[in-house]
Amino acid sequence: MSEKPWGGRFKESTSLAVEAYTESISFDSVLYAQDIAGSKAHARMLGEQGIITREEADALRAGLDQVKKEIEDGVFPWRQDLEDVHMNIETRLTQLVGDVGKKLHTGRSRNDQVCLDFRLFASDQLREWMRLTRALVRMFVKRAEEHKDVLLPGCTHMQPAQPVSLAHHLLAYAWMLKRDAERMADCEKRVRISPLGAAALAGTTYPLKPEMVAEELGMYGIFDNSMDAVGDRDFALEALFCGVTAMNHLSRFCEEIIWWANPMFGFVTLSDKHSTGSSIMPQKKNPDVAEIMRGKTGRTYGNLMNLMTILKGIPLTYNRDMQEDKISFIDTDGTVRHSLSLMADMLEGITFRPERMRKALASGFLNATELADYLVTKGMPFREAHHVSGRSVALAEEKGCGLEDLSLEELRGLSELIEEDVFAALDYDTAVARRNVPGGTGPQSVARQLENIKAWLGDKD
Ligand code: ARG
Repeated sequence: MSEKPWGGRFKESTSLAVEAYTESISFDSVLYAQDIAGSKAHARMLGEQGIITREEADALRAGLDQVKKEIEDGVFPWRQDLEDVHMNIETRLTQLVGDVGKKLHTGRSRNDQVCLDFRLFASDQLREWMRLTRALVRMFVKRAEEHKDVLLPGCTHMQPAQPVSLAHHLLAYAWMLKRDAERMADCEKRVRISPLGAAALAGTTYPLKPEMVAEELGMYGIFDNSMDAVGDRDFALEALFCGVTAMNHLSRFCEEIIWWANPMFGFVTLSDKHSTGSSIMPQKKNPDVAEIMRGKTGRTYGNLMNLMTILKGIPLTYNRDMQEDKISFIDTDGTVRHSLSLMADMLEGITFRPERMRKALASGFLNATELADYLVTKGMPFREAHHVSGRSVALAEEKGCGLEDLSLEELRGLSELIEEDVFAALDYDTAVARRNVPGGTGPQSVARQLENIKAWLGDKD
């Protein structure tokens, strides 16, 4: 019979099926570094407060370092019968340092311990996500700068709408991702708060000093209410949402890449490194990375829903359901990290095809708004101008040409206000060049955007 750290009141051992069903070591071992850091801080605080001696605290801290080394060297004896990362580490610590190991858990419960570990883990991952998100923003900025003069059809309803610059299109993602990074930074302030000292749920009788633990761990503050500290997981929900929202943005770009790589669009060529072939159709070059990223995004949404559902019916305070909270976060973390970094690689390897984009401008009457705006400058009310432009679209469609290919006479047949200068207004480059309002697609506006986002990135040039 394996002796459990909590086994005192039990006469029979847990059934193997229950052990296998209730364990969390198969997924929470990834929290080992945070668990050890938390225990070291706790041990030091116990020593400083005279709850154990300073020598005992030093012995515990040295032992915990040894445990960490064993884990990192791959020689740590993980045991499923010890349930979770906390009891595995504590048990091994006691084997290594002797009876003093049994003092580590003084004034602490696994309820505040697991919450501390999870908060530290989520905070560490949020910082990594931020770093990767910024790197991806930098890549969008780089690719945008290389394509300031390239135009392509901007779409609404996935239908050609108005011409935009490729830089503007790419910068749209840079701004989304900047917000993602900011959201993560803001969230991290609420996540990195220490619950240690809440103990099981009611606080303890020992003269603990939670601020000391928080300080050693570089945390922003400590809990206000012990029941909230061990019972709350909204930090995890919020952190998860930050990752999931970034995935949403990546997935939308994936969708565009997939369309653009289709030879019917031909706007981009993906690097061979980021494409795969077909086992039957020799000509195929498939955008599998983008497709899988889009698919994985769905799984992260499921994870968010999973965590929300786990939490919805949990009365105060800790309930064992909460053990399941880490699965959705850990799974999402892997997806977020790999997706952010792979997207930066894939974007770097994309060859944009300006000639194909330019060709696409000619179909879809992307200058119809220009014609309406032109008529407004000639004194026609916009609603009427919209109508005249619409009729010119119908005419061009009938003739199978663009608005710019209609003759002046044909155009004047629709409105006497139209003159020779209409052709300059219908020019796609002009249409873009004139949109220098703040946030517009015009070159000056794009230059301002680049300047602002680079200032945020902290890049000099
Ligand atoms: N493995 C548990 C979890 O992840 C640790 C906390 C267990 N606490 C308890 N009272 N059984 O939530």
